[in-house]
Amino acid sequence: MTTSSELLDLSPVMPVVVLDDADTAPDVARALLAGGIGAIELTLRTPAALEAIEKVAAQVPDIVVGAGTVTTPEQARQAAEAGAAFLVTPGTTDSLLDAVTATGLPFLPGAATVSEAMRLAERGLDTLKFFPAEASGGPAALKAFAGPLPHLRFCPTGGVSVSNAADYLALSTVGCVGGSWLTPKDAVAEGDFARIESLAKEAAALGG
Ligand code: 3PG
Repeated sequence: MTTSSELLDLSPVMPVVVLDDADTAPDVARALLAGGIGAIELTLRTPAALEAIEKVAAQVPDIVVGAGTVTTPEQARQAAEAGAAFLVTPGTTDSLLDAVTATGLPFLPGAATVSEAMRLAERGLDTLKFFPAEASGGPAALKAFAGPLPHLRFCPTGGVSVSNAADYLALSTVGCVGGSWLTPKDAVAEGDFARIESLAKEAAALGG
């Protein structure tokens, strides 16, 4: 099983994907994979999300599929049952942390402040999602985090795009960034998988 820290090393960008139709999920995942992206975070923001996770896990075994926007203990359990290989939470409450930990899956718990990051570090968690990244101070904030907390690694997400991703990736504490720009709503709706593959290629190249 991939560890939380290894999740950040799969690709320079973790695509954050919102799908209305679970049937499109395998093709979206294949397009990302063809573009050189090794993981997909399917967000639990639509009724189709759990089925989408199931389909990708069954049909596209070469991509690591996880569940994002996990905000309740119940969602953590459902995502694990659907076959998610990892979980991502936008923020962290005690009950959510307990439920996510109980799944046994690697996960990226959300934190936006030094205190939140320290609370997670106290629980032995050293690989976090920095969310919402741009609204919480962007690369300058994360650079400041690295002073007192150099041992923590982050996946900044929220307002990250191809134009500012490199500013985050240049930081020693950033393993990858997360973002929804690889799978634009219209490209998904129109089945324009070539465009998704091309955006994935551009994102994969951000790693150097
Ligand atoms: C998330 O849930 O991680 C964010 O909503 C993704 O943010 P973005 O749409 O700004 O990339």
